[in-house]
Amino acid sequence: MTTSPNRFDQQAAEWDNNPGRLATAKNIADAMLKAVPFSRAWRALDCGAGTGLLTLNLLPHVAEICATDSSRGMLEQLQKKILAAKIQNVSTLLWDAEAEPCPQTGFALVCSSMVLHHLRDVPAALQRLAQAARPGGWLALADLETEDGSFHPDPAGVQHHGFAPADLARWLADAGCHDIATRTAYTITKPDATGRDHHYPLFLATARRT
Ligand SMILES: C[S@@+](CC[C@H](N)C(=O)[O-])C[C@H]1O[C@@H](n2cnc3c(N)ncnc32)[C@H](O)[C@@H]1O
Repeated sequence: MTTSPNRFDQQAAEWDNNPGRLATAKNIADAMLKAVPFSRAWRALDCGAGTGLLTLNLLPHVAEICATDSSRGMLEQLQKKILAAKIQNVSTLLWDAEAEPCPQTGFALVCSSMVLHHLRDVPAALQRLAQAARPGGWLALADLETEDGSFHPDPAGVQHHGFAPADLARWLADAGCHDIATRTAYTITKPDATGRDHHYPLFLATARRT
């Protein structure tokens, strides 16, 4: 697959320098570990894995993770970490979740964090994510709850100002999932453009592919 450089390619080298991103990934991983009965035998897929912040938090709890992203630059940062730490059980895959079905399937867990708001057609992407799971496999998807548009100072590439969790639940049902649940998993607090602290709750939606 070939993609043209995007904003994530440009931000990739500096991505992990923001401590808020590290905290978000850790807290979302903890929420997933609480909500889903993880197994060390599982193959997992992390969609929009970026530099692997969620991937590497979940890795001790599964057998292997396929980290996918549409940004070559983000995946290159993750590959550097894999090489530096001699990690054997993370693979990377350049995959645009908006463009085509995932070339790999049969995953026991399909997860993502802070990716859905970058996708134009989320119901269609959820169909692709569900298809990447094995029957009975889990989906665990975290993103912003509906916000006022202040979360991203630069709106480039932002398709949605968060979501109503009930919409996610409905789209997951439409994608052929059951055991659907949503909860607020973590709240990001950061100053908005006026300098005042603003709270941005993140939901975690979990479901199983039928
Ligand atoms: C906000 S970052 C989150 C990265 C990572 N999940 C984390 O929590 O640190 C969003 C990621 O989604 C990826 N992304 C955006 N659109 C995508 C698409 N259509 N298919 C796959 N990945 C996409 C971006 O390249 C970026 O790495």
